[in-house]
Amino acid sequence: MINVLFSAQPKSWTEYEAPLRAAFAQAGIDAQLGTEFDPADVDYIVYAPSGPVSDFTPFTKLKAVLSLWAGVETMVDNPTLKVPLCRMVDHGLTESMVEWVTGHVLRYHLGMDKFLSGQDGVWRAGTAAPLARDRKVCVLGLGALGAACAQALVQLNFRVHGWARSPKQVEGVTCHHGADGLDAALSDADMVALLLPDTRATENVLNARNIALMRRGSFVVNPGRGPLIDDDALIAALDSGQLAHVTLDVFRVEPLPKEHPFWAHPKVTVTPHIAAETKATTASEVIAENIRRGEGEEPFLHVVDRAAGY
Ligand SMILES: NC(=O)c1ccc[n+]([C@@H]2O[C@H](COP(=O)([O-])OP(=O)(O)OC[C@H]3O[C@@H](n4cnc5c(N)ncnc54)[C@H](OP(=O)(O)O)[C@@H]3O)[C@@H](O)[C@H]2O)c1
Repeated sequence: MINVLFSAQPKSWTEYEAPLRAAFAQAGIDAQLGTEFDPADVDYIVYAPSGPVSDFTPFTKLKAVLSLWAGVETMVDNPTLKVPLCRMVDHGLTESMVEWVTGHVLRYHLGMDKFLSGQDGVWRAGTAAPLARDRKVCVLGLGALGAACAQALVQLNFRVHGWARSPKQVEGVTCHHGADGLDAALSDADMVALLLPDTRATENVLNARNIALMRRGSFVVNPGRGPLIDDDALIAALDSGQLAHVTLDVFRVEPLPKEHPFWAHPKVTVTPHIAAETKATTASEVIAENIRRGEGEEPFLHVVDRAAGY
């Protein structure tokens, strides 16, 4: 019998218990699933860092930690975690990120805010948007989420450039990589979407120098992680007109403190880390597949490279 500990917030257990049991049955996995076990008996932990476990030392027969979250920056440096850590890649999560990113890119492309924020009785002619094919959108990060968003933007006819750590091929996307590729990816971009992980190498990737490479009056959407952006440089660029508007879903401190200047800034839209959420049904299938693999001694899916930090 396999013992699977669910270690996340109690409300997640309510949401996940039935889908996980169904996914285990579907995958032919005979497992005991629960929120309490003797640690020495646990084979797998379905995990969120917001749950009760942070010290993995007592879990002496643990085979893998299966994260419910895509972003693993709070887990990678845990010195007590000695077994594979698998992050969440879930097509429900990917679909919702694609919807969020394309929604905000289209909102900026079409200039929707202008029309939503006040009907003043003035008929302003000549304000139609250019075609998407005349806009360069840069997606920083071409992983599970970034590549899917880039492809959706290609389908909408945007000129899409992407940037990753290693060379990539994504149909319709001009791909750049490494430190040398960043300038070409960002230069003259009308919009930038950040879908990088939070690592030592990605911190402040959108800093004053790199924002200056973008087209004057451009836009940023950040559903990646707060530390990807130098907040002070972002505010300076908004105030100078280098950036026209930004939509931020993630922040260095969450919830974003009431006194943070982003709240009151007229060129910032704050959304409360809701860009994309793991969906219990599809995520449970991914977890079941990884347990099936673990028991069959096949390689796990989506194993985190602890040295790279994602
Ligand atoms: N706001 C939300 O609701 C929400 C929800 C889910 C996830 N997220 C965030 O989205 C992030 C991306 O998720 P994902 O599943 O797409 O991750 P992923 O599959 O691991 O992709 C990460 C991408 O970033 C690139 N990258 C990493 N370090 C880099 C560096 N130093 N320079 C250039 N490129 C670098 C990777 O390059 P390689 O391909 O070469 O490795 C990869 O293309 C997560 O880490 C999380 O922070 C946010």
